[in-house]
Amino acid sequence: IKKIGVLTSGGDAPGMNAAVRAVVRAALSKGMEVYGIRRGYVGLLNGDIIKMDERSVSDIIHTGGTVLYTARCPEFRTQEGVAKGKAKCDELGIEGLVVIGGDGSFRGAADLSAQGVLCIGLPGTIDNDIACTDYTIGFDTAMNTAMELVDKLRDTSQSHDRISVVEVMGRGAGHIAVNTGIACGATDIITKEVPYDINAIANTMLAKKAKGKQNFVVIVAESVGHSQEIANMLQEKTGIDARATILGHVQRGGSPTVRDRVEATRMGYYAVELLEQGIGNRVVGIKDSKIVDYDIQEALAMHKEYDEKLHHIAEEIAF
Ligand code: F6P
Repeated sequence: IKKIGVLTSGGDAPGMNAAVRAVVRAALSKGMEVYGIRRGYVGLLNGDIIKMDERSVSDIIHTGGTVLYTARCPEFRTQEGVAKGKAKCDELGIEGLVVIGGDGSFRGAADLSAQGVLCIGLPGTIDNDIACTDYTIGFDTAMNTAMELVDKLRDTSQSHDRISVVEVMGRGAGHIAVNTGIACGATDIITKEVPYDINAIANTMLAKKAKGKQNFVVIVAESVGHSQEIANMLQEKTGIDARATILGHVQRGGSPTVRDRVEATRMGYYAVELLEQGIGNRVVGIKDSKIVDYDIQEALAMHKEYDEKLHHIAEEIAF
């Protein structure tokens, strides 16, 4: 195929720029024309589309955010919206499209594929909550950011003999929480995937305090939320001073780690290889370190396991 488009959609994630760069450069290297579609499907519908050349993606591999901007697009969830998107692709001669985003963005890609535009989804979200892949672009950077911030909180929590309750992102999933918890040596990790009992947590803290432990770090997944209430309850039940911190959107920014840059590049390049072969309606992922691709509907129907083993290891060694 001769002309392709690329867009980023949904919440941004560090490494999206590396993925855009790989798609643009791979396509140019294979003799295709590439269009950057700005603000996701919104830009497709509005015609906010720019032709990309060799220099369009210079100096972005190390930057967070997305140079193509991103948005959520309710109109693209309607049949009329998808038909309008298809018409815009036809008008510009765009035969293939790389969509970098999460599950919601892939649904749009499946609908557009059904209209005859070859779409390839690339998993881009800090949450790592896409079932068909072990890894999503942005996950590693977000966890490293969360880890650095929790390390800083630990310093002050230690000085004051406090409980620090820290809420991390992850949407409905606890993948960021469990890994950050492990990496920061958290006393407790609270996610929606594993039942918890606040009384048991408080009693265990008191038992640990009796044996000399003086400060406590509790990581809470945003899907559980209520971090301020959790801090209040722990303070009330233990008598230990507690503070809650919601890390929030800082976790979505920053220069991507090596892992995010490399995986984004591998997957971006692979997406263009699929399009080159005239293959569409696929999501690209990484399984056991290998690049894989799945039918979009099949990918959307998959279920991702939470690493309960890791969660329990963290609990067992937190004394
Ligand atoms: O999907 C990424 C994410 O940052 C989630 O972790 C979080 O639940 C959500 O996006 C926040 O969305 P918004 O940027 O719309 O506040």
